[in-house]
Order: sequence, then C-alpha cells, then structure tokens
Amino acid sequence: MTEWIKVGRIEDIPPLGARVVETGNGDIAVFRTAEDKIFAVRDKCPHKGGPLSQGIVHGRNVTCPLHNWNIALESGQAVAPDEGCVARYPLKVEDGVIHLSLKG
Ligand code: FES
Repeated sequence: MTEWIKVGRIEDIPPLGARVVETGNGDIAVFRTAEDKIFAVRDKCPHKGGPLSQGIVHGRNVTCPLHNWNIALESGQAVAPDEGCVARYPLKVEDGVIHLSLKG
C-alpha cells in the first residue's frame, strides 16, 4: 500500500514557489507552477547538490540557484546541454490538500 504524507494545501505554496518536506531519507521539494501544477522532486540538484527548492520556477522548469542548471519538473531531467536526473515523487491532491508518496 502506498503511504501518503500530507504536505498542506495548494495555496500554502506561493505560485512559482516551493515547500520542503523533510523525510528520513532527505529533503523533497514540492513546487507550484504559475499554472497551479504541483511537482515533487528531491531537493538536490543532479549537478552538485544545490537546493532546487530555492531555485526559480519558470514554466515547468526550475533553475538551480547554484550554477543555473535547468531541471524539468515533469521528468526530473536536466535540460540539455546539461545532463542528469533528479528523483521525482508522486503527488495527489484531495480537496485542495497535497499528499506526497515517497515511492519515487
Ligand atoms: S548544483 Fe545545481 S547547477 Fe550546480
């Protein structure tokens, strides 16, 4: 059975912002895009581990605050020419409340 962790309401995350969920297994960043899409990825850039939750969200990408790699939130892949991948996590929204599964 999938275990779901309650993250909070969608409106608790500012548009183009992120919330960090601490887990026993490292931090996960939950992003809200301008179009109210929600994505969860590990809060660790595939380049040198920068905190993606502090990056800038544009479209469905986030730019890492350290060296400006762009990560596609849908796939977790770095946008070319950069290469790398960050783990993604399933989310579901029920009655406006976001739930996160740690099964990446
Ligand atoms: S650590 Fe993210 S771009 Fe370098």
